[in-house]
Amino acid sequence: MTTRELQDKIIELKREKDFCILAHAYQGQEILEIADLTGDSYGLSVAAKKTTAKNVIMAGVRFMAETVKLLNPDKHVFLSNPMAGCPMADQINRETIEKLREENPDYTVVCYVNSTADTKRAVDVVVTSSSAVKIVKGIKNDKILFVPDCNLGRWVEKQCPDKTFKFFKGGCPTHMRIRKEEILAAKKAHPDAKFLVHPEALPEITAMADYAGSTTGIMKYAKESSDKEFIIGTEQAIVEHLQADCPDKRFYLVSTGLVCHNMKVTTLSDIYNILLGYGGEEIILSKEVATEALTPINKMIELGG
Ligand code: 13P
Ligand code: SF4
Repeated sequence: MTTRELQDKIIELKREKDFCILAHAYQGQEILEIADLTGDSYGLSVAAKKTTAKNVIMAGVRFMAETVKLLNPDKHVFLSNPMAGCPMADQINRETIEKLREENPDYTVVCYVNSTADTKRAVDVVVTSSSAVKIVKGIKNDKILFVPDCNLGRWVEKQCPDKTFKFFKGGCPTHMRIRKEEILAAKKAHPDAKFLVHPEALPEITAMADYAGSTTGIMKYAKESSDKEFIIGTEQAIVEHLQADCPDKRFYLVSTGLVCHNMKVTTLSDIYNILLGYGGEEIILSKEVATEALTPINKMIELGG
């Protein structure tokens, strides 16, 4: 079967069986083409709340499928490939948060959405990269404990100078690979290019950017800019999508290490198999997780707008 034939079968089956396919922007172009909704973590969370389909496939990583399930407890939610985890989400757990809370009783615990549903049970509010600054600014308390991504946390801190921050030492192994020398080399090779980066990168890297923001933010900036060349500091798929969407512009990946292997395990065949009735993993959450983890996610949507 060719890629096009497989895509046609998926499109036919998802309609017939009442499935909605959500795909994070780090998925390959062939997956985005068969998705009903694509975007960054925040956009997908909000979209997930609105879908009317009985069944949802999340082409992304586990915490994203869990978020969809939390927001849609009555739907069947499938993670496209059970191996697709997020190493950052596994860096912290509920017990660690509870201990941090005891040590910092007057701090509001702000947790990046890249965390497990069980971890979210112990936090006050969830944020995504595109909503973090707005949400933190809207929190009444001026003491913020930001977990698990200290790089994103430091980027938020810079934009909220009135608040005091504490951080957990976690981070994204993919974005943390970007090195200063790689940016300097890319700028030397493409002197007119703007450098766009995801705030999961190290603070000294984000400080060198012309623009820092979420996956959707980076794509919007590049599409709307009058500039023609861009050095991209986020997952390789964004270069692929931008190049397809803007054929008159040029996009350069800042580092060959910018591949999230967890995002890349999902294939069209995984999605096809779920539609055929096998493969993937249906997300099942315990009653405690389903109720307790939903509270900080609803708070994110309430404060994030
Ligand atoms: P956003 O989708 O919020 O840009 O986050 C990027 C990411 O690393 C998702 O795992
Ligand atoms: Fe996790 Fe980083 Fe991959 Fe996103 S890009 S899923 S944060 S490892």
